Amino acid sequence: MTDASARLDPARVIADIDRRIFGGFVEHLGRHIYDGIFEPGHPSADADGFRGDVVDLVKELGVSTIRYPGGNFVSGYRWEDGIGPVDGRPRRLDLAWHATETNQVGLHEFQDWLDKVGSDLMLAVNLGTRGTEEALDLLEYANTSVETTRTRERAANGRETPFAVKMWCLGNEMDGPWQLGHRNADDYGKLASRTAKGMRQLDPSIQLVVCGSSSRTMPTFGAWEREVLEHTFDDVDFISCHAYYEEKDGDAQEFLASGVDMALFIESVVATADHVAAVKKSDKRIMISFDEWNVWYLSRFKDEEETYRPDEWPIAPRQLEDQYHALDAVVFGDLLITLLQHADRVRSASLAQLVNVIAPIMTEPGGPAWRQTTFHPFSLTSRLARGRAVRLPVVSATFESERFGTVPALNAVATIDDAGASVFVANRSTTDAASLRLDLTPLVAALGRDLTVVESHLLHEDDLYAANTLADPERVGVRPLDGVEVEASVLAADLPPVSWTAIRLA
Ligand code: AHR
Repeated sequence: MTDASARLDPARVIADIDRRIFGGFVEHLGRHIYDGIFEPGHPSADADGFRGDVVDLVKELGVSTIRYPGGNFVSGYRWEDGIGPVDGRPRRLDLAWHATETNQVGLHEFQDWLDKVGSDLMLAVNLGTRGTEEALDLLEYANTSVETTRTRERAANGRETPFAVKMWCLGNEMDGPWQLGHRNADDYGKLASRTAKGMRQLDPSIQLVVCGSSSRTMPTFGAWEREVLEHTFDDVDFISCHAYYEEKDGDAQEFLASGVDMALFIESVVATADHVAAVKKSDKRIMISFDEWNVWYLSRFKDEEETYRPDEWPIAPRQLEDQYHALDAVVFGDLLITLLQHADRVRSASLAQLVNVIAPIMTEPGGPAWRQTTFHPFSLTSRLARGRAVRLPVVSATFESERFGTVPALNAVATIDDAGASVFVANRSTTDAASLRLDLTPLVAALGRDLTVVESHLLHEDDLYAANTLADPERVGVRPLDGVEVEASVLAADLPPVSWTAIRLA
């Protein structure tokens, strides 16, 4: 057991938490839509064909804004395919995922589903195979209340009132050579700027996200952000970041340092955006939409890709169905801590993805739906992280990372709201438990009353690779943290190695 100490000072505010930081992402990919959220024959399905068990789990997860319809898929998508009578909708080849898209679910159906789960829509436009005109068509269809041919069509399709979509992504991962319509930063920056200007002319109330890098390891990382923002700085509100992490070569300790990479990613993009602001003599601050983040065993996906047969274009195949274990969930919880630590600039984030596809929720056709290990840190953080994010630097033991040097074992953040405070801590050490002493004196003084622990949730398994499966869907969960207490304004908590903990104080 190593010692660790911290002091929770309410003056160390990072920012008010934008609820959009607890967003999700639904792509037409694998069994995400079909056999995931939409399965008309399922016993729990409603009259619209949406699975009720999935709706309940998505609500429990607490997802604010949901990015749709892709991802790589959007770069070949014609949004008009997904509107109008379902029977007349075209079947198309989805080049991104080598599958057949039936278009049984489109904009209207997806909005109906969002209404059921209580989340907001964030739409991505296709800037891969399409351009400004199609983006404007979609925006007019979705957001305009003036009577036009497009809005009449929308009303005829069942929505008299506009969808009023606030956040729009200008394409997806346009820096990636795998992306349909991939461009260099100069070409994409010009296209994004033209499209953004047109979209704002049509609806000045929208918020626009320009594509940043697909990961911090992209060869163009940094230069891409600078060049794209030089073109679009005045036109957009957000720049995107995407990052996926996985354990490589069985090195759990290195994997547990993933949050350091995410922090460096965010801080580098902020520095680049602010550099462009400085050159432009502007006070404007571009925010970050971390609109794809998760643990994803991309190396396994490469093997999956090799099984694609040129003449086979399946409907809703099992793709990217990663099964998450306890270690993944601790890394995942630490990524959530990292996002909150940057809540001043990360004003929106989307967990990629939601159901079946690298997802916190899994389903079996005709069978049950269950929570993956990663479900727990997300639902707890979304529920307990309210009000303001507050810095919580911890003095703790360290470990050596090959990529990042000396890394603190404990990583933490606090949030403070009118009813109390929440503390989130990851113990990233694979070897040592930590005895944390958290001095609450400044917070108790500011509140004028004592604090006690009202909830605690520990995610930890002796078997790091324990997972929830169809056969054993509740193998990994959270449990109260033994012995956590506040005495004389000091919170004492013993945190096992490779663990994630949430504590609510009131
Ligand atoms: O989330 C899976 C894929 O990862 C998305 O389609 C793409 O944007 C990213 O590369």
